[in-house]
Amino acid sequence: MNQLDKIVALCKRRGFVYQAAEIYGGLNGVYDFGPLGTLLKRNIKDAWMQSIFTTQQPMLLVDGAILGNHAMWEASGHTQNFSDPLVDCTNCKRRFRADDIDLDANCPVCGKKAWTEIRQFQLMFQTNLGAATDSSSIAYLRPETAQSIFVQFKNVMSTNRVKIPFGIAQIGKAFRNEITPKQFLFRMREFEQMEMEWFCKPEQVDTFFPLWLKARTAFYDHIGIKKENITLREHESDELSHYSSRTTDIEYTFPFGQKELEGIADRGNFDLTQHSKHSGKDLSVYDDETKQSYIPHVVECSVGVDRLFLALLCDAYTEDTIEGETRTVLKLSPRIAPIKAAFLPLVKKLSEPMHALYKDITAKGYMVEFDESGSVGKRYRRQDEIGTPLCFTYDFESENDTCVTVRNRDTTQQERISIDSIESYLQAALKQ
Ligand code: GAP
Repeated sequence: MNQLDKIVALCKRRGFVYQAAEIYGGLNGVYDFGPLGTLLKRNIKDAWMQSIFTTQQPMLLVDGAILGNHAMWEASGHTQNFSDPLVDCTNCKRRFRADDIDLDANCPVCGKKAWTEIRQFQLMFQTNLGAATDSSSIAYLRPETAQSIFVQFKNVMSTNRVKIPFGIAQIGKAFRNEITPKQFLFRMREFEQMEMEWFCKPEQVDTFFPLWLKARTAFYDHIGIKKENITLREHESDELSHYSSRTTDIEYTFPFGQKELEGIADRGNFDLTQHSKHSGKDLSVYDDETKQSYIPHVVECSVGVDRLFLALLCDAYTEDTIEGETRTVLKLSPRIAPIKAAFLPLVKKLSEPMHALYKDITAKGYMVEFDESGSVGKRYRRQDEIGTPLCFTYDFESENDTCVTVRNRDTTQQERISIDSIESYLQAALKQ
């Protein structure tokens, strides 16, 4: 089994991620997140939010609609430009992204060379609002969260007393009818994005672009991703999106290669200009210094929650051998780990006092687990596999010395600490 397959298996086994509608045969490129996956996702989003708010001010949040009308996606350029090149094999009827395969070679599935012409495939999911199915009712599921930020830019600005430069951030679902969803959470049809649009004067882009790039790179270090797995790559002019004049990708070295994790783009005034033109509404702002109106420029930072989820799992997934025993361990940063600590009575007979400690710490807001079933060794392995940084164990001595044993996930080292210091110990670990 390769590393990705092992991660997929672990995700299912431990309740991180399930194939959507699995009992009906599954839905390609669509996943449900289980209890641990939901916690991990929440921690990722919280960490992102915190990083966005602590680096630059002022920053505002929005939560835009998923459905958008034709006019909006026409203005943004998505109806014309948001497509991938598609090619079919006329022999086996398989469909491929033309840029994913070598068209000079034979079909990788059936071995024949019988390609159709390349044509453009629209990636937006189209639907109709209401009972009518004519062109006036056409709507799309958003393929990026950014557009609702641009469309509401003037409303946000005028109702919040902010001045340029400022940012608008959003976390939300996006949908793309990917031709070939693949590599688990890497390329999905339904996914979540964390996007921040930074509005500034045109001449400020050269200051803010590197500033945001630096802040975003620091974020990955903060959440524990190994520095050696992160690379910055500037887009060539022929790979830029239709709205971008400059993009630097923050790439992660996945087991299947170095790929985009986050894009930092100079969107110029493309979006606001387009929405001004198409809606007839003036989206310019007045500059008190120059006494002139202008359309703000935008530096965008955009990362997928699910893609980052996968990067974190790839980064953390470790198999090691401790005292002759092989184990699987997710060495997630304690900041990101879904469960922060496990509370384990050595034997069931000691459950009551340990459960009381578990309840105390849960009431203080920590996400911890209580587990009394099976041997303590087995329980350690389970916690290792889900990335729990600490295990506290209550044993026969605990009654007398008012101490528990704490075991570190990564080193497996154990130490004895007083029951009174459990919270401060946990707090210190969560700051690492
Ligand atoms: N608003 C800009 C934008 O959407 P993008 O490069 O197309 O730019 C931004 O997407 C990020 O969203 C990507 O870097 C990636 O992390 C995530 N993403 C894009 N398509 C995805 C997909 N099909 N599945 C999972 N994540 C995806």
